[in-house]
Amino acid sequence: MQQPEKQINAPAGMPLPERRRRRRSSGICATSGVRVQPQEEQQQVATRGTVLTDSDQFYFNWYAHIDVHEEMIKDRVRTDAYKNAIMRHKDFIRDKVVLDVGCGTGILAIFCAQAGARRVYAVEASNIALQTIRVVEANNLLNIITVLHGRVEDVEIGEKVDVIISEWMGYMLLCESMLGSVITARDRWLKPGGLVLPSKATLYMAPFTHAKRYRESIDFWRSVYGINMSAMVPLAKQCAFVGPSVETITSENVLAWPQVVKCVNCSSVTIPELESITTRFKFNSLVKAPLHGFAFWFDVEFTRLSPEPISFQLSTSLVDDHPVGSQRQDLRDPTLLLSTAPEALPTHWQQTLIYFYEPIELEQDQLIEGKVTLSQSQENHRNLNIELVYATGGQSYVKVSVM
Ligand SMILES: C[S@@+](CC[C@H](N)C(=O)[O-])C[C@H]1O[C@@H](n2cnc3c(N)ncnc32)[C@H](O)[C@@H]1O
Repeated sequence: MQQPEKQINAPAGMPLPERRRRRRSSGICATSGVRVQPQEEQQQVATRGTVLTDSDQFYFNWYAHIDVHEEMIKDRVRTDAYKNAIMRHKDFIRDKVVLDVGCGTGILAIFCAQAGARRVYAVEASNIALQTIRVVEANNLLNIITVLHGRVEDVEIGEKVDVIISEWMGYMLLCESMLGSVITARDRWLKPGGLVLPSKATLYMAPFTHAKRYRESIDFWRSVYGINMSAMVPLAKQCAFVGPSVETITSENVLAWPQVVKCVNCSSVTIPELESITTRFKFNSLVKAPLHGFAFWFDVEFTRLSPEPISFQLSTSLVDDHPVGSQRQDLRDPTLLLSTAPEALPTHWQQTLIYFYEPIELEQDQLIEGKVTLSQSQENHRNLNIELVYATGGQSYVKVSVM
């Protein structure tokens, strides 16, 4: 029996995923009182005549806020991973031309200059670029770093580059759809044999249990100061679990070996490939526990890859519907890996959890199978539609949400 969980569509024109209010935390959704920086009023994105959509306008205004950059830079796991990767590729970067797609405050561009790059084009569409120029100047790097204030799709660079670097990863990896801009830049500016950092990205999923969260958000209403407030429970479920939730879990919350949803070779992936991704999954619960939903996380690697589609080796020997088993031999260099997995050091991305409205009691070894589809929202291409169709214990379910 198909038992649909309540299907929810994003409010039309919803400007940005919840993510931005949480992940890069102090930002506020446009509809709920944006803290305006003086420069925001002067938002002028070089668009070569392209009219920015409302969602892009909102997106770039968002990145004009200092808070979001502060949060990213203070995420040491993230920033150190990039710095380390740049320094590890010093021999390749030295005397070369680098393009930093979405440079923000310029931190990665400056790391590349420190690694010996001959020239760095630091492209930033938001008005934070006005500060970035001053940062570059204050570090006496104007002779190496050229800050271009505009969308990477619209700016002119005037030469091919040897390296493209970008921190483009959103929640659930693909939220924000910034990878498309990196692909556009790669296809336009990267020399054959050039390096893209990160080189590879992998999105994972696994079923999870989180009784504590369920108790605190839902069971709490059953008895409040001795008053029966169970009437609040349906609304509490609706509010708490309607959309994906960005939270930190540990490996103890994870009920089965994770599975790869999508593996992306950044040297060869195409934009159409990212528009809609469907992956089948099969999990066997390792323990008897209530299943509260599915967790998603990602990692990125900073290794040199061939531009061929990923040959299945190392951890990516996992075609989409093969689980990442305990037997996996992870030969990846951990020092060139930025992981947001529950067992890794926490990052500002945390993990993305899609809760069910009702938990499902699982027995040990119980099979959970189904498919997940991630597709770019038609209303706002920065958003991700997530459709989960799954079955376990003889029942089938559907959960649709938007991030
Ligand atoms: C996740 S932040 C990373 C900032 C910086 N590279 C860092 O690591 O701290 C992404 C940045 O890319 C910018 N951005 C996104 N899409 C862009 C595009 N198409 N062209 C230029 N900048 C873009 C955003 O405005 C934002 O500042």
